[in-house]
This record gives sequence, structure tokens and C-alpha cells, in this order.
Amino acid sequence: MQDKKDLSNKVAILNIPGQEPIELPILKGTLGPDVIDIRALGKKGYFTYDPGFVSTASCSSKITFIDGSKGTLLYRGYPIDQLATKTNYLEVCYLLLKGELPNKEQYADFENKVVHHTLIHEQITSLFKAFRRDSHPMAVLCGIAGALSAFYHEGLDIYDPESRERTAIRLIAKIPTLAAMSYKYSIGHPFVYPRNDLSYAGNFLYMMFSTPCEKYEVNPVIERALDRIFTVHADHEQNASTSSVRLAGSSGANPYACIAAGIASLWGPAHGGANEACLRMLEEIGSVDRIPEFIERAKDKNDPFRLSGFGHRVYKSYDPRATVMRETCHEVLNELHIENHPLLDIATELERIALSDDYFISRNLYPNVDFYSGITLSAIGIPTNMFTVIFALARTIGWISHWNEMQEMEDSRIGRPRQIYKGKEIRQVKSMSKR
Ligand code: SDX
Repeated sequence: MQDKKDLSNKVAILNIPGQEPIELPILKGTLGPDVIDIRALGKKGYFTYDPGFVSTASCSSKITFIDGSKGTLLYRGYPIDQLATKTNYLEVCYLLLKGELPNKEQYADFENKVVHHTLIHEQITSLFKAFRRDSHPMAVLCGIAGALSAFYHEGLDIYDPESRERTAIRLIAKIPTLAAMSYKYSIGHPFVYPRNDLSYAGNFLYMMFSTPCEKYEVNPVIERALDRIFTVHADHEQNASTSSVRLAGSSGANPYACIAAGIASLWGPAHGGANEACLRMLEEIGSVDRIPEFIERAKDKNDPFRLSGFGHRVYKSYDPRATVMRETCHEVLNELHIENHPLLDIATELERIALSDDYFISRNLYPNVDFYSGITLSAIGIPTNMFTVIFALARTIGWISHWNEMQEMEDSRIGRPRQIYKGKEIRQVKSMSKR
């Protein structure tokens, strides 16, 4: 496609042999690259081909913006490092959902609504019993989150803004309760009911680690660190799990079922499952002197091994969330007096070596949000198989904010990608005796 300068970049011209040139509008966003609107191509009998959607904008959104070359991440225009240090996660939830940071009254009202929806229907506790005790907590969370659609379906009007806000509040409020229950169930401990007098992160720590046998005090440094971890995981444009939620939601499906689709997609080790995979990788490396062996494996095209926690589809520079996570990691280790965390030494040396190796430099492979989160979460006492559950907890606000934005869009249509067909030509069925 070539731009015609005299059209001042308003259209791209697609010249296809034997066809009249096709004019495709160029759309400008507030920030980031222009997009070429290819919607007219379908009527001309052409599809575009972009497996993995590397060069495809699937929607228009006002929620989050990433500049991968500069390592910039904005939630509704606010830089992530400022949000991580100057706000708390519930303020960020309000911001992502409604578009502005709350003032004092708005925050108090929002927090009050969330706090009074943290309980789940008592019958849901029975659903946990259908899972094996050794089930992966993500399998449990995915199943139970989807089951919420059986409790909140009748009377749910996805076209009514108030009904959508109630759904968002319910999900923000209940996901920590369900996440903590997934953990308690996996270790055979009794479920702990939420407490309305604790902060969002403090309540989650309480539901995770308290027992009926003794008083549990929330550590304020850990509470603040966890709240910040939630904030940096809250949203990230049209990543795989958010796109799964949007695609499921585009059919008008129940929003709780759509969130279950997001949880399912996040679980993969190429996506939200990377935090668990990264910690297991650091444990497998085991010592600093084995790092070169794993660096070579990561570079070997015949070896499926990749450095978990490294690389990103969008960031071609340092993931700004990894910076916040690294600082938080050191803060937590200091607070807990964990001087020489063996995995931190391996992670720090692995990062140093990789960032000086041409293979990683030439491919713009940097640590991503998952690289330091595992060490931090394990230091807090969260088991490895719960890391992606923490990610899902934090990302629920991003998922439901995008689902909500999609429902608000005038031109929202069911997502239905096309394909390039490489199968058989048309052919006739032969009877079994003739095959
Ligand atoms: C998240 O999309 C989001 O925003 C996701 C997320 C969010 O907040 O929602 O940011 C959360 O998912 C972070 C990413 C977590 N995943 C991992 O850490 C797993 C390890 N990373 C890779 O699997 C990979 O980097 C991806 C999946 C993250 C990105 O894959 P891409 O964009 O498809 O990149 P690619 O596979 O085309 O890689 C380009 C090149 C390839 O080499 P060449 O074919 O050019 O020779 O870089 C290589 C890859 O082999 N490469 C790696 C690598 N990541 C990419 N080589 C070694 N180790 C790695 N980690």
C-alpha cells in the first residue's frame, strides 16, 4: 500500500493487479500508530492475513495505551509508575472502569459497594468439593468463576449501564474471595470469610493466610506491596485474555462466563502462566553457574525452551511493570529479612547476562512483568501454583472494563474472523464399501 502525499495521509491506496486501486481510510488514534481501516476489503472479496494479530487492531479503546518502544504504559492516560506509587488498587479499578480517578466521596462510595459484595453465595462453597484437592487452583478458579453465571443470569441486562456496573462491582469484590478459597481448598484448610474492616489487599492476605485457630495481623508493608502488584497487573490493552473476554462478550454471553474465558486464556505459560513458569525455571536453573547452559537452550531453535519472564509482543524495551515489580521484590525481601534469596541472585544474574547477549538484544527481549513477580509472591508465602491466580485476580478489572466498553460501543458487532482455506477441493462422499 502506498500513501498518496497529496491526500495528506487520509487514505492508503491498495493496488491489486487487475483491480481498480482500493482506497482505505487511515484512522488516527490519540497516541500510537495510525491504523488502516480495511473493512471495505471484505466487500471487494479480500481478507487480510495476520495470525496472532501482530499487526491488527481488533477494536477502538480508551482504556489503556502501551508504547512498546518507550516502555510506556498508561491507564486512562496516567503512567503506571505514578499509579503504582500514588494510588491504590481500588482507585485504579474505579479509573479503569469509569475513566477518571475518584475523588474522596466517589472513592468512599465505590469502596463501600465493593466491600459489601465480597461474600459469595453459600451454595458456591459446595462447588469446590467437586474438585480434587490437588487440582491446579487456576482450574478451580476458572470453573467457579464460570459457575457465577449460574447465580447471576436472570435479570442481568448487559445493555443497562447500572446492571453492567453491578456486575463489575460483584466481580471486583468476589474474585479475591474465590481466589483465596481456591488456595484454602487446595491445602485442606477451612474457607475464611472476608472482613469488611480490612483493605482490599489486606482482606485477601487475611482470607489466604488466617486460620480459625489464631489471630492474624496484616503486615502493612506486604499489604502495600500486594496492592501494588494488583495495580501493575490490572490491564494491558488487547492481550490474549482480554481479547478472549471481548470475543466471548461480543456474542452477548453472560459476563461471568466471559471472565471465565479470560481466566482460561491467561493460564497459558506464554501469557499469565509465565510467572509460575518463570519461578519453576529459576528453580530448575538452580545456581548461577548453570545460567549459560539455559541461555544457550533459549537460543537453540531446536529446543522449545524459552526464558520465561522474558520477551513481549509489544514491549521492545524494558516492561515498566518489571521495574515496579523488581523494586517491590526488594522491598518485600527487606521487610521479611530475606537477605540472600537464592532465586533472586539467579534472576539478577540471568537478566544481566541476557541483556548483554546479542541474541536477546537483537530481538529486543527484556524482562517482563512476570520475571520478578514469582520471587516476590513466593517470599510473601504464596505458593507457585497460585501465582497466575493472583494475576487473574488483578486482571479481572481490566477484563470487565473492556467488556463494559465493548457493550457501550455503538458499532460493537460479534467477532467473527475469517481464514485462508488450505484444505481439500470440493469432493463427493463415497459409500463405506468404496473408500
Ligand atoms: C504476559 O500481551 C500482553 O500484554 C501480555 C501481558 C499482559 O499483561 O497481559 O503482558 C502478560 O503475557 C507477558 C509475557 C509472559 N510470557 C513469557 O514470559 C513467556 C516467554 N516469552 C515468550 O514466549 C514470548 O516472548 C512472548 C509470547 C511473550 C511473545 O511472543 P511473540 O511476540 O510471538 O514473539 P516471538 O515468539 O515472535 O519471538 C520473536 C523472537 C523469536 O526468535 P526468532 O524466530 O526471531 O529467531 O524472539 C524469540 C523467539 O524465538 N523469543 C525468545 C523469547 N521470547 C521470544 N527466545 C528466548 N526466550 C524468550 N522468552
